[in-house]
Amino acid sequence: MRADCNGLGVTFRSEGTETRALDGVTFATNHGEFVSIIGASGCGKTTLLRSIAQLVRPSSGTIELIPHPDDPNSDTLLVFQESSLFPWMRVLENATFGLAMRGVEREEREPEALRLLKQFGLAGRERAWPSELSLGMRQRVALIRAFLCKPALLLMDEPFAALDAQTRLELQQELLALWQPTSMSVIFVTHDVDEAILLSDRVMVMSPSGGKMELQLRVPLSQPRNTGDLTSPEFVAIKREVLKQLAPAKEQAMHA
Ligand SMILES: Nc1ncnc2c1ncn2[C@@H]1O[C@H](COP(=O)(O)OP(=O)(O)OP(=O)(O)O)[C@@H](O)[C@H]1O
Ligand SMILES: [Mg+2]
Repeated sequence: MRADCNGLGVTFRSEGTETRALDGVTFATNHGEFVSIIGASGCGKTTLLRSIAQLVRPSSGTIELIPHPDDPNSDTLLVFQESSLFPWMRVLENATFGLAMRGVEREEREPEALRLLKQFGLAGRERAWPSELSLGMRQRVALIRAFLCKPALLLMDEPFAALDAQTRLELQQELLALWQPTSMSVIFVTHDVDEAILLSDRVMVMSPSGGKMELQLRVPLSQPRNTGDLTSPEFVAIKREVLKQLAPAKEQAMHA
């Protein structure tokens, strides 16, 4: 699926105050592309993802979601920062929830879920409650749940922000392993520059207010990526560009 945002604006109005969260955001993502979006806190990243997921109605502009013949369906799915598992469901029920909602029979939905749970180190935890899992394990189950649904477009809002560095690196690799064999498009929001570059085909930097895409860079590293790429010259060159864009205006003036 392609996502095409054109002049997107979102204004929130409450109790007489207006917040212009997005103002003229224009960008497009390609079918099967992994795109990361970086930007300062409050610049409108979550609002952008919520708009694409049709949870927020744009005040102006358009969002077009253009299906591709390879897409298994035309769904978009949003994964949040905090694990959004249902506390009253066990791990296996949580992992297969999306499929159950679509009417997929138990015998059909469970084998694939069990295979993925095993692949990502959760064998033996299928009957555990979410509260019995670590944060990293809960996010793994949330990832598996999302991928089992095979959405054409996966939107991820800082899914690894609450994790420690080690677990974060593990989940980044696991995400790439889940995504690579698919033709799924991903829009991934993060504050972490390394994470954005390591995962993506393309990195976009949003302006601090109103969320215009100020910088778009293609990452010239072949997939699959691994942590060794973090120190490659191509990686370092892109990181330098992104950090320059993110630097406060005062600092930019000093370097001008
Ligand atoms: N439901 C809402 N009602 C009113 N204002 C909102 C609402 N949601 C977001 N905003 C405002 O819109 C702006 C953008 O918020 P948003 O959550 O999209 O930023 P963000 O880039 O995701 O920030 P962070 O990196 O901290 O998650 C902020 O000024 C925020 O206060
Ligand atoms: Mg946010």
